[in-house]
Amino acid sequence: MRRIIPTLVIQGGAGGLIKDKRRRLKIRKKMAGILDRGYKKLLSANAIAAVTWVTRLLENDPEFNAGRGAMLQADGKARLSAAVMDGARSRFAGVINIEGIRNPVLVARSLLEESSRILAGPEARRWAVDAGFETGATRTARSIRLWEKKSSAGSDTVGAVALDAFGQLASATSTGGRGYECPGRVSDSPMPAATYATDYCAISATGHGEEIIEAALAVRIAQRAADMNSLKQAFRKTFSEVSARKGYMGAIGLNRLGHVVIQTTTPSLLYGWQQGKFRKLF
Ligand code: GLY
Repeated sequence: MRRIIPTLVIQGGAGGLIKDKRRRLKIRKKMAGILDRGYKKLLSANAIAAVTWVTRLLENDPEFNAGRGAMLQADGKARLSAAVMDGARSRFAGVINIEGIRNPVLVARSLLEESSRILAGPEARRWAVDAGFETGATRTARSIRLWEKKSSAGSDTVGAVALDAFGQLASATSTGGRGYECPGRVSDSPMPAATYATDYCAISATGHGEEIIEAALAVRIAQRAADMNSLKQAFRKTFSEVSARKGYMGAIGLNRLGHVVIQTTTPSLLYGWQQGKFRKLF
């Protein structure tokens, strides 16, 4: 029988090139550390636990546009969105535009066990508070500075996909949105267009939310991958279509054989992946 090598892929957003070499190295180092901790977790946990854990670490780092470092909407508020999908159970859960909760991905993971699995706005917050999730400010000096400049995100999402030792796949994605968008706008991250997993593959997407939703990106890739029996071909075909429409997006993907595919139409995509001793960073 084929031995499964647990595999973890993380992403820190697609966006502009980080031209400042020092900042690029700093983010690379941070992602290396997070990948390290995430991979250790994967070796002792299942895929859904590992993607939740590692996405939480990315949310906790103010460099990334999710959780603590989230961009602010035009009214100066951080509204956070996150989702998880467990490929083994074909089960999806998410939170949309939740405020003042440190780790929306943990709330999404908890909702995975509920009958109402996608909650939004103040009701999502109330549920999270009642369930005991940590509350607190999710605005930083950096996000306030960017908001004052009416800036949109340079890197816009975090996420992960994993294959565990049991052959199970899972995906998680979390975001603060595009930055300075219309209050109440909903990102792609808490939708299957960006966060999707089956028993064949798992995908987490990043980029312009509206375009990702219109392309139904992650679902489209996953369906094609199963039909073509090739994740790589599914990515190629789907990205040739979104490129033709000048879509601005990227995705990380992983299948049950441990094949990793990463593709983007953007100038850069911050990613890292590990499979046994093999490791690669952007
Ligand atoms: N991908 C994040 C957003 O568009 O909000």
